[in-house]
Amino acid sequence: MTDIAIIGGTGLDRLEGLAITSREAVRTPWGEPSAPIVHGTLGGHEIAFLARHGSEHTIAPHRINYRANVWALKQIGATRVVAVAAVGGIHSDFEPGRNAIPDQMIDYTYDRAHTFHDDNVEVVHVDFTEPYSAELRRALVGAADEANVDAIDWGTYAATQGPRLETAAEIDRLERDGCHLVGMTGMPEAGLAREAGLEYAHLAVVANAAAGRGQATIRIEDIEKNLETGMRSARAVIAALVAAL
Ligand code: HPA
Repeated sequence: MTDIAIIGGTGLDRLEGLAITSREAVRTPWGEPSAPIVHGTLGGHEIAFLARHGSEHTIAPHRINYRANVWALKQIGATRVVAVAAVGGIHSDFEPGRNAIPDQMIDYTYDRAHTFHDDNVEVVHVDFTEPYSAELRRALVGAADEANVDAIDWGTYAATQGPRLETAAEIDRLERDGCHLVGMTGMPEAGLAREAGLEYAHLAVVANAAAGRGQATIRIEDIEKNLETGMRSARAVIAALVAAL
């Protein structure tokens, strides 16, 4: 049984430093997860790892089987899920390369299977006032401190549909809505984790200034460079977190 699970996003399809003990192909009532669950130890502590976009990074944000991913983690006994996610920075504090632990989110996605309760006899409404686990967020903030990573410990995450990036006007609208960072995978993942009763928090890595906030066009080469820096910090935060929990 592995209590702590890491979902790796763009820039983190595998977790360096993870001593792999097994790979588990999990079947779920919702189909196949993005990849086999990787079990291993990080600094001597057992964790599970799931590559959100698949082991070879082939699954686009809107095509991810979020239900299968979250169900699979629940099925292997995970209770706490740290979801690493590349984001664009809307607010100027969210500079490329920085880590952030957001505290709120707004869902702009559509046409995604987003609930385990489609065909229930009874309608189920889970509370989502605070979309992230307060305890896991606190642990992440502490781990960032411990790892000497200057992570932002606030922010409203906008979940957009993708796979294209946003227009400058769309980012202006997200800013007016109160969003500080934007990514494509936060929902329905976080909502499903809540439905499944999992503690869930985001460790966001700013890959670029969002549309209209930095360079005139967003270049993939820049994103990759920033993610390399940001994921190095994220890995240090995860190592400190796993040691602390
Ligand atoms: N927008 C949405 N998702 C993202 C971005 C962005 O600018 N950068 C990385 N993921």
